Amino acid sequence: MNTQPRLSTGDISPFKELLLHTCGFQLENERETTLIAGLERRMTLRKAGSPEAYRTLLLQEPDEMHRLVELLTINETYFFREPEQLRLMQQQLIPELLSAHPERPVKILSAGCSTGEEPYSIAMLLREAFGPENGHLFSIVGVDIDTEVLAAAKRGVYGKGSFRGLDQALVKRYFTPEGAGEYRLAESIRSQVQFAQVNLLARDYPPLMHSPDIILYRNVSIYFPGQIQRDIFARLAEALNAGGYLLVSATETIHHNIGVLPLLQKGTLFVYRKVPLPSIEDRRQARRSPPVAAPKAAREPASAAPPRKNPATPRGVRIGAAPQQRREQRPAPPATAQDRSAEQLFDEALERAQQGLLEEALAVLGALPAEDGSGVKFSTLKGAILLELSRFDEAQRVCEQALSCDPLNLESALMLGLIAHQAGDSDEAFRRFREALYVDPACWPAHFYIAEGLAALSETKRARSGFETVLRILETGSIKDHDRKFFPLSFKAEQFLAMCRHKLTLLNGHG
Ligand SMILES: C[S@@+](CC[C@H](N)C(=O)[O-])C[C@H]1O[C@@H](n2cnc3c(N)ncnc32)[C@H](O)[C@@H]1O
Repeated sequence: MNTQPRLSTGDISPFKELLLHTCGFQLENERETTLIAGLERRMTLRKAGSPEAYRTLLLQEPDEMHRLVELLTINETYFFREPEQLRLMQQQLIPELLSAHPERPVKILSAGCSTGEEPYSIAMLLREAFGPENGHLFSIVGVDIDTEVLAAAKRGVYGKGSFRGLDQALVKRYFTPEGAGEYRLAESIRSQVQFAQVNLLARDYPPLMHSPDIILYRNVSIYFPGQIQRDIFARLAEALNAGGYLLVSATETIHHNIGVLPLLQKGTLFVYRKVPLPSIEDRRQARRSPPVAAPKAAREPASAAPPRKNPATPRGVRIGAAPQQRREQRPAPPATAQDRSAEQLFDEALERAQQGLLEEALAVLGALPAEDGSGVKFSTLKGAILLELSRFDEAQRVCEQALSCDPLNLESALMLGLIAHQAGDSDEAFRRFREALYVDPACWPAHFYIAEGLAALSETKRARSGFETVLRILETGSIKDHDRKFFPLSFKAEQFLAMCRHKLTLLNGHG
């Protein structure tokens, strides 16, 4: 009979080192116990007489590495985890990507997919939204380092724990009972997802992972140390298609705001986007079009500026933040504005925007007679909706128009800053955010994005001072009032506070 080897902390340090450098695993504290148990188990099974003999086996046999890795990964997952992100993808990002390149499928990669609940949730959502006949519009790939979870993913049979986030109607539609409290996922959904074993830290990614339009990299990086987090994020960003999105979980977001990809706000969520390079024709056009006249008042110091008229009553709402409603439950927007006042139409558009019915909100605004629809308040709402829909060119035109009517229109300056920021045009972004600060020196989103830009340029001292300013502003007064301040734009003060604190910790580490 085999006696199981007993390993000491000293015995395991070469394995910790090896697993950190090959897989990114940080096996400290309580995870050391998992490592010891895993090593003892594998050494017994492989009849390895010493830690050195087993280490040689590990280095020589990729399969043995897979067996050990299976014992060390944390595979916690379930269907429809963080559903707001999945809905954002279904309702905004995918339609936008489909119209940007209708000639090819949108490719979605679940990086660290575990037992498959994440990519399968996406397949179900897309089938719900686009119908079974449109499966060819999408290609979904799931990769993971752990071969055992991938085998379970391909099998597609799930127990109770996986259904925490899934509504019963979907369970009925897509699963059949398998006995012993388990359910089998329908073949129509399973066949939509391809799986592959991939180490995200590997130097080269296989073709299956090339050029995704959306990467979900959620709840994976939390287990990696800082440098490995940064390396993997940079590799995924490199693989991502231009114009594509990279989504990490809400708790991981700030840790990846390291200047590799710009962070965009979509309603209450943050996503990373790889900025598409403008075409040569676009660049020519941009050069041809005359620059918008700089607003006179915006050049004057803030103290000299007259008090700004708020473009709309602050009501603390977030465009696209409210739960989505099914389109068919809503009456169609009015075709004409005959029997409604401009105010009523504005309120109606706003209400639809708040419900996430952005196209309908635009249609309502479009029903305004030109003389009413040209008001700055309307343009600001329209600009915010277009921005939310990532229709950046149109949003830019609307905001420039609004600024030419009212040079003190703070929200338009902010939106133009955000548009330039997402396009990677840092000079223009700085200019627009500074304009916003002339109008309102307490405009904390402008301070934040300027500080971000300075940090990216390694202007550590000035960046630090910018983030400190944001903290000073946001730590005074109520968070809810800060949330509401730039209506109808939605900046979630709480998240900005957390990001500033994190940025300051990073910057303070760099002296
Ligand atoms: C906690 S699960 C997350 C599953 C899913 N993304 C979610 O959010 O529910 C983390 C997964 O990342 C995988 N993983 C860890 N390190 C990895 C690496 N270096 N390469 C690929 N996958 C890795 C683990 O095997 C595990 O299945």
